[in-house]
Amino acid sequence: MSIRPQRPAPATPAPGRLPITDLPEMKTRRQPIVMVTAYDAPGGRLADQAGADLVLVGDSAAMTVLGHESTVPATMEEMLILTRAVTRGASRPLVIADMPFGSFQISDEDAVENAIRFVKEAGADAVKLEGAGAMLSRVRAIVDAGIPVMGHLGLTPQSATMLGGFKAQGRSAEKALRLYDDARALEAAGCFSLVLEAVPAPVAARITRDLSIPTIGIGAGPDCDGQVLVWHDILGLFDGRAARFVKRYAEIGDAIRSALAEFAADVREHRFPEEQHTYAMPEDELEVFLSRTAASVSRDRG
Ligand code: KIV
Repeated sequence: MSIRPQRPAPATPAPGRLPITDLPEMKTRRQPIVMVTAYDAPGGRLADQAGADLVLVGDSAAMTVLGHESTVPATMEEMLILTRAVTRGASRPLVIADMPFGSFQISDEDAVENAIRFVKEAGADAVKLEGAGAMLSRVRAIVDAGIPVMGHLGLTPQSATMLGGFKAQGRSAEKALRLYDDARALEAAGCFSLVLEAVPAPVAARITRDLSIPTIGIGAGPDCDGQVLVWHDILGLFDGRAARFVKRYAEIGDAIRSALAEFAADVREHRFPEEQHTYAMPEDELEVFLSRTAASVSRDRG
């Protein structure tokens, strides 16, 4: 098993890392951008080996990894640990750390301080934050500090309560127009790309056409510049009801369950471990050991 050294900060991008400036070029070339979430070092490594361009350490970790009912409880300390693990595993993809609820809402200063922690302490290349409006000044402040920011509009899970639940956004002309204006404002504030979650495909298509930064869709139709799905959804590791936009590419949960059940049955039926799983020792050493332990037992018994 090899663990890579901590990745340098984005000011000194590692050789082989996808330059962030390639993303608008990919948009121009209409070359789809692939983003996937990951939450640990093997996940980062597998996403890299599979050719992902971007790896998002999503605050979806609160639900997929930490067992919460929503993304809101994710803390900075938890997100830092997960991001650090992912950056140890992923070399070529840009690693984007999701700023958890409470880490950027209070002030520009807080937002910059927490974004810097992701870069300095966890090796992230960029951060993502949800929303527009008051968050535009957070984006500007973080970008001014030299850290790339990915925006996130549409269904923004951190404010799901305000949005009336986990449901599609921008389904009236007025709401779609608000999304469109917010998207343009985030671009103007300096975002290098924008996640569009659960918005009607034609709305996402229009936003994508009119922005020069790439859009990354999740439930936003085929015309976004890239697509993202959550690790556990792609791999069939999430037991809850899947959103409409999820496509499962594997049933790893089933594979894990049956492997664990087989292990349990082997243990209970004395089929594991076998000879090949055990360590031997020289015969003469074993004889000494056995005779000394036998002697000490008989001494104790009087
Ligand atoms: O937290 C997350 O995984 C996300 C993606 C769904 C974009 O924000």
